[in-house]
Amino acid sequence: MTLLEIENEILKLVKKYYFLKNANDKIEPGKDVIPVSGKSYNEKEVINLTQSALDFWLTSGRFNKEFEGKLSKFLGIKYVLTTNSGSSSNLLAVSALTSPKLGEKRLLPGDEVITVAAGFPTTINPIIQNNLKPVFIDVDVGTYNINIDNLKSAINNKTKAIVLAHTLGNPYDLEEISKICKENDLYLIEDCADALGAKFNNKIVGSFGNIATISFYPAHHITTGEGGCVYTKNSLFKVILESFRDWGRDCYCEPGEENTCKKRYDWLLGELPHGYDHKYIYAHAGYNLKITDMQAAIGCAQIEKIDSFIKKRKKNFKKMYDLFKNLEDYIYLPEWHSLAEPSWFGFPLTLRNDNPEERTKLLKYYEEKKIGNRLLFGGNIIKQPYMKNVEYRSHGSLKNTNKIMNSTYWLGIHPRIEDDHINYMFENTKFFFNR
Ligand SMILES: Cc1ncc(COP(=O)(O)O)c(C=O)c1O
Repeated sequence: MTLLEIENEILKLVKKYYFLKNANDKIEPGKDVIPVSGKSYNEKEVINLTQSALDFWLTSGRFNKEFEGKLSKFLGIKYVLTTNSGSSSNLLAVSALTSPKLGEKRLLPGDEVITVAAGFPTTINPIIQNNLKPVFIDVDVGTYNINIDNLKSAINNKTKAIVLAHTLGNPYDLEEISKICKENDLYLIEDCADALGAKFNNKIVGSFGNIATISFYPAHHITTGEGGCVYTKNSLFKVILESFRDWGRDCYCEPGEENTCKKRYDWLLGELPHGYDHKYIYAHAGYNLKITDMQAAIGCAQIEKIDSFIKKRKKNFKKMYDLFKNLEDYIYLPEWHSLAEPSWFGFPLTLRNDNPEERTKLLKYYEEKKIGNRLLFGGNIIKQPYMKNVEYRSHGSLKNTNKIMNSTYWLGIHPRIEDDHINYMFENTKFFFNR
């Protein structure tokens, strides 16, 4: 047998294995847990993964090139760099703002960066890790995004950037925030971890700010297991991000390539001798946050399905919304900007009852009924144990953030959720409130 014939035989068996293994993967309400999030895949992902295993290239290679290209096409953004997580992508994005390659425009220790306290920790942590000062602003209940009036009044001469996630796939007012950035000469980083495919005024999220990030952790719109990407329209940011991602190196050769710059032994940089091998010249205190080709291989199959995933998420969201509208006496429903086209990650709900015990009772009831649920990330991040010794500024009241910490949760709407799951979640929630 030739290598190709053996490969075909292996892939045929892999396909057979996939179908046998997943023949009974239905989620039965009441019997199985309705997961709040989860991966949707079929034999295509398993075949790609097997092919990358047979390649045994391991580090980013042909699948990564294909994956980055497909992401770039879907997003309509020229530079897409894959990474090993959404958190790493955020670390790269904020670190990039500190690069000496930006000259006078680089962020320096102590500069202030505006964000929200009702955020995911690794949206905020890169600000702290880069010795910058996070400035926490309140959000609105319903959209769970930044309160624009408070954002405006928080800006002072130390403010240099805004770092915000589109909460649960719901875009914030990108036109207003872009205007604020322009008027005040601020960088904008859009954390689109939960918002792949969301739009604002018909433009994809991540295309408004200087740099944007996505997560491919299994809870997200598409998955590579662990994984993420960072994207930008700006060629200088692309070079800086790549450098920080790849050990801080100045050289931009692809793995396995050499002398892309055609002057590998002709550079004079830092205090190194002339001609020092460019492959070993470092422009930044960098990391190694690269994806593997096995992860990228899964991503290649996932990105092909993104339109159908988003469509199903939107359909599920609408059904949830129409049903839960009947419970408005007890809950605040999700809200979104009139120009926003969310690409929902989950269905957020806030109890009108301010007593946190009431939410705990509800979540325990969900647990009993096998209904998966999640809180809105860290609630008020300032109250988290790790923030105790962190230097930050809090601007204005965080009233809504505290309300979210006490009374908000979200339910699943991912593509594996079907109508009977939604009906079951609704009926049980109604029963709880009417008890
Ligand atoms: C808004 C936001 N940013 C960043 C991340 C981190 O992504 P990852 O888990 O891939 O590190 C998450 C994770 O869910 C997230 O929700």
